[in-house]
Amino acid sequence: MNSRSAYGSDHPIGVAVLGMGNVGTEVVRIIQNQTEDLRQRVGAALVLRGVAVRRPDVDRGIPAELLTTDAHALVARDDVDLVVEVMGGIDPARELIGAALSAGKSVVTANKALLADYTGELAAAALPSRADLYFEAAVAGAIPVVRPLIQSMSGDRVNRVVGIVNGTTNFILSAMDETGADYDETLAEATRLGYAEADPTADVEGFDAAAKAAILASLAFHTRVTAADVYREGISKITSEDMETAAAVGCTVKLLAICERVPGRPAAEEGGKDRISVRVYPALIPRKHPLSAVTGAFNAVVVEAENAGRLMFYGQGAGGAPTASAVMGDLVMAARNKFYGGRAPGESVYAELPIAPIGDTPTRYHVNLQVADRTGVLQEVAGEFARHGVSISTVRQEGSDEGARLVVVTHEAAESALADTVAALAELESVTSVTSVLRLEGTEE
Ligand code: HSE
Repeated sequence: MNSRSAYGSDHPIGVAVLGMGNVGTEVVRIIQNQTEDLRQRVGAALVLRGVAVRRPDVDRGIPAELLTTDAHALVARDDVDLVVEVMGGIDPARELIGAALSAGKSVVTANKALLADYTGELAAAALPSRADLYFEAAVAGAIPVVRPLIQSMSGDRVNRVVGIVNGTTNFILSAMDETGADYDETLAEATRLGYAEADPTADVEGFDAAAKAAILASLAFHTRVTAADVYREGISKITSEDMETAAAVGCTVKLLAICERVPGRPAAEEGGKDRISVRVYPALIPRKHPLSAVTGAFNAVVVEAENAGRLMFYGQGAGGAPTASAVMGDLVMAARNKFYGGRAPGESVYAELPIAPIGDTPTRYHVNLQVADRTGVLQEVAGEFARHGVSISTVRQEGSDEGARLVVVTHEAAESALADTVAALAELESVTSVTSVLRLEGTEE
């Protein structure tokens, strides 16, 4: 069907916005201030039909008649063609988006938590009605990374996506790196400056990054990945000593979201199929790695593909206006599709690659030990690494008041082998303590 006849100067495209927080406020501002540009870019005018809010009595600088508390009724209006969901959370967003898509109304959402668990359900709702579901703003705010993965890279084979996708934690880790302050003190400062929320759990414990990793992995590997498939550790246990340790070896600590293709094992074990590893954790990265230069609240995503090689996307991953920029790009696309009769690419999950358990995931490690300073200790320690099949790359020894400090950097080893090694080291009479175990990423072995 060519819907060109359905929309035009006398039949604008109606937009409903659900939520008027930081992002919603900016989306509404742009729709209202850039009317003519948007009309030219879409082909028909975008007209704001209403904004669903929880508290309509608050003065938001727009006509009161545009505000409603009844989001369901707003979505169902005949003159609403497109829905922008920027309220966040699972309920009622899930139901509202489902209702819009089932009714053939395209949806633009920034809701990573919802998408990480319910993209399949939402895509199914959109299929019969031919509605579009766009979500560029759900990962890394203003940074275009969703559309490049879905469209630009659709003829390539992605092997790895590694990103700093949470601004709050990157702000905290950058500040700890710069000032030498400890975690609690830095978190308090981040909260005071508005970089961390009053309840920072979703950010500092890695839930926000894990939802984004699930979305990125789904797109990169054409496989449905949910938040539960993502191995997750946050930054709340990172200490100022860890930062010093990192600095001493030319590294910094970053919370990384890593989505990786793990080459298939022999056919007898796994059918020869590649697997995917999706994980979020703080890791040492060398200061010369491009992600090391991503400081403050900025985000960046590196994509490695077979033919394209390495691509890097960098910019503002949060904030009202930057996130609204991504929402508006999607809104224009969805509106153009209405006007010209096109359609966004649907969900692509044909590859159905299995998830590799974290225990099988090969990573390098940086292990800090406090040991007795006597003959043979180095050999005992090295022996435990060897016994568990973990190959050592470098060992450094420093004298200290209580004995000696050993810093062992490994080659790639499976997480489970390293865990067994650490448990065995802790049992050695010559090892006073395993002071820290940090993953090391971004090095060429
Ligand atoms: N809280 C997120 C961050 C932004 O700190 O990056 C929204 O996903």
